[in-house]
Amino acid sequence: MSKMKELDIKTFCISLAVFSIISSETNYMKSMAMKLFDAHCHLQDQRIVDKAPQLIATANGAGVVYIAVNGITEKDWHLVKEMSDEYCSVIPNFGLHPWFVEGKSPSWFSTLKELFEANPSAAVGEIGLDKSPLAKGVDFSDQVEVFKKQLQLAKEIKRPASVHCLDAFPELLRIMKDIGPFPSGVILHSFQGSPEVVPELTKLGSYFSFSGHLMPLEEDEAKKIVKAVPLDRILLETDSPDALPKNPIFFVPGNATLNQPANVHSVLIYVASLLEMSKEELAHISYKNAVRIFSFEGSKIPLE
Ligand SMILES: *[C@@H]1O[C@H](CO)[C@@H](O)[C@H](O)[C@H]1NC(C)=O
Ligand SMILES: [Zn+2]
Repeated sequence: MSKMKELDIKTFCISLAVFSIISSETNYMKSMAMKLFDAHCHLQDQRIVDKAPQLIATANGAGVVYIAVNGITEKDWHLVKEMSDEYCSVIPNFGLHPWFVEGKSPSWFSTLKELFEANPSAAVGEIGLDKSPLAKGVDFSDQVEVFKKQLQLAKEIKRPASVHCLDAFPELLRIMKDIGPFPSGVILHSFQGSPEVVPELTKLGSYFSFSGHLMPLEEDEAKKIVKAVPLDRILLETDSPDALPKNPIFFVPGNATLNQPANVHSVLIYVASLLEMSKEELAHISYKNAVRIFSFEGSKIPLE
């Protein structure tokens, strides 16, 4: 792409983002007139990919200015790229998720590296470690090898990395200490770790992203977790189409069990209540944090 064309697209994206904020303020009730950022989801998931254009429009109309869409296997990276090429509000993330490490091709890592070279606006994700029953049967040493390569790559190319970690925080900390620190940021997505791991992870450059996955926890436990996180490291996400919040505001047409990015509003309401903070204040803080981590060099997001 020529420099000129690239510049035009960037200007177009910025004016579109401004327009969507203005129209969300005029068209929606006052509570919707906030800027929000869905820091982690999967619009390319086969359960919702056909409806993605509609879900992106709904999100933009509700003030969700940016949506970080995370690939999970080599097979869906092209869908994430196409979505990013088409929609200014989609921030592409490419990664191999720990549940799928065994299906990788011999050339997976070179394909991934080429994708990042060709897409300067892309972040790394979803990558991670999982020792929970959800990852039953997936060899953990394979997970570690695939995770380390991708985390190292994120550090080298100075992009944030979106990390899934279930029941593997000691291993995660050890690896992050070996490879880190991470000045470009690491996002602990759908964070439900213990409050005790937060300070060390913060020191290494982590942000902590909350979703509907926090809602099945006892409220006291959830409160301890969110209150352990420094305010300048809090993010909000939906993990759509999973993690439908308990108080969804938006439903995916045809399937009321599925989640969508506009429901980051529901996550905002819950996390703000745990923090005993107004949702306007948490919207402002979490949006600013997300813009900080996602406005790396080459990103679609202008630094505010
Ligand atoms: C809705 O989505 C869930 C989760 O993917 C699935 O199990 C269910 O069969 C779907 N229902 C309909 C009516 O498509
Ligand atoms: Zn995810």
